[in-house]
Amino acid sequence: MRQKVHSRYLIYFISAFAAITGLLFGYDTGVISGALLFIRQDFHLSSAMVGVTVSSVLLGALLGSAMSGKMTDKMGRHKSLVIVSFVFIIGTLITAIAASNQQLIIGRIILGMAIGTGSFVAPLYLAEMAPPKARGFLVTLNQLAITLGIVAAYVVDYVFSGQGEWRWMFGCGVVPALLLFIGTVFLPESPRWLVLKGFSAEAAAVLETIRPTAAEANQELLDIQQSITEKKPSWRLLFSKAIRPVFYMSLGLSFFQQVTGINAVIYYAPTILQQAGFGKATTAILATLAIGIFNVVFTVIALPLIDCWGRRPLLFMGLTGMFFSLIAQSIAFYFPHLECLRWVTMGSMIIYIACFAMSLGPMMWLLISEIFPLEVRGLGISIAVSVCWAFNMLVALTLMSLIDFCGVSGLFLLYAAFCLLGIVCVYYFVPETKGCSLEQIENNIHAGKQLRELGVSLK
Ligand code: BGC
Repeated sequence: MRQKVHSRYLIYFISAFAAITGLLFGYDTGVISGALLFIRQDFHLSSAMVGVTVSSVLLGALLGSAMSGKMTDKMGRHKSLVIVSFVFIIGTLITAIAASNQQLIIGRIILGMAIGTGSFVAPLYLAEMAPPKARGFLVTLNQLAITLGIVAAYVVDYVFSGQGEWRWMFGCGVVPALLLFIGTVFLPESPRWLVLKGFSAEAAAVLETIRPTAAEANQELLDIQQSITEKKPSWRLLFSKAIRPVFYMSLGLSFFQQVTGINAVIYYAPTILQQAGFGKATTAILATLAIGIFNVVFTVIALPLIDCWGRRPLLFMGLTGMFFSLIAQSIAFYFPHLECLRWVTMGSMIIYIACFAMSLGPMMWLLISEIFPLEVRGLGISIAVSVCWAFNMLVALTLMSLIDFCGVSGLFLLYAAFCLLGIVCVYYFVPETKGCSLEQIENNIHAGKQLRELGVSLK
C-alpha cells in the first residue's frame, strides 16, 4: 500500500517537472508584448523590425520542432529535455544582455528553438510516462503550465514596466529554466523509448517505480514489447496506408488550433481592446491580464474533465463556444460606434479564451502525443508541432495586414469560419481516446480501423 501511494505521487512529481517546459513556452512567447515597448525605444526599431523581433522566437520554434523528432528518437526523451533546459538558459541570458537588436534576435531564435523542441518533447514524454486513466490530466499539465507562463510574463512585464527594465523582463525566465535543468537531470527515461531501443530491463525498472503494483508494471511492459515492430521511423512509414489518416488528423488539429485565432488574442489583446474603447494602455494591459487569468482558470477546470467526459465532447463544446463568441465580436466591431462595443468585446474574449482553454488548447497537444504508433511517434509529433508553429507565425505576421484589409470584424468572421470547419472535422475524424492505452490505440491502427474507432478497445 505504501508503494502505491509513493508511485502515485512520484508520477505527478515527474510530470510537474517536465511541465516546466510549458511554463517557459508561455513565458518566453508572452514576455515580448510588454518588453517591446521599451526595446523599440532603446534600439530605435522600425515597424518592420518590430515584426521581425516578435516573430524571431516563432521562427526558432519552427526550426526547433522540425529538428527535434530525429533527436528524441535517437537520444531519448530524457536527454532531449536536459538539452532543452540548457538551451533555455543560454537563450535567456543572451536576450537579457543583448547589446543590439541583432543580438536580441539571435537570442530570441535560440530561445525559440528551445520552445519548439520543448513543446514537442514535454507532451510526448508526459504521454509515455502516464497511466492510461490519467494521461489526459498529466499531458494537460503542460498546457496549464503554458497558460501560467503567459500570466507570469504579463505580471513580470507589468512590474518592470515602471522603470522600463526590459532586460529583467527577459532575465526572470532564467529561474524556471534553471529549475527545469536541475529537475530534468533526475527524471527517468521514458519506458517506451527504452523498449524501442532494446533496453527492456531498464524499462521494467522505471515502470516498477512509477506504477502502483508489480503486476501493472509487468503488463504494461508486455504491451509495449508486443506493440514494437521492426520498422524504422521514416516518412514512407508516416504515409503508409494505416498511419496516413492519423498523420493527417494530427496536422489538422495543429492547423485548427492556430487558425481559429488564439494568438490574435494572446499577442494582440491590448491592441484589439484599445480599438474597442479601452483607451488607456494600462487599462488595456490589465484587461489582457484578466484574459490570461481566465485562460489558466479554465485550463484547471478542463483538467479532470478530459479523462472523465472525454476529448470529443470538450472539443465540440469548446469550438461551438469559440464560434459564437467570435461572431459576437465580429458583429460588435461592425458597429464601432455602439456604446456597448467594449463590453461585448471583453465579454466575448473571455468566453472565447475559456472555450479554447477547455478544448483546442489542451486537446491538440494531448491527441497528437497519444495517436501515433511508437515507431513513428517522434517523427509524427515533431511534424505536427512544426505545422502548429508555422501557422502560429502566419497568424502573427498576417494579423495587422488582415485588419487593414477586412477590418477587425472581417478578421473575427474568418476565424469563426475556421471554427465551424473545425467542428465538422472533429465530428468525422477525431477519435475518443479516453481511458485507452497507447498500445490499444496502436493495435487499432495496425488492425486498419477507421479514425473514429481508434480509441475503441479491441479486447
Ligand atoms: C497554443 C499557443 C497559445 C497557448 C495559449 C497553446 O496550446 O499552442 O499558441 O498561445 O496555447 O494558452
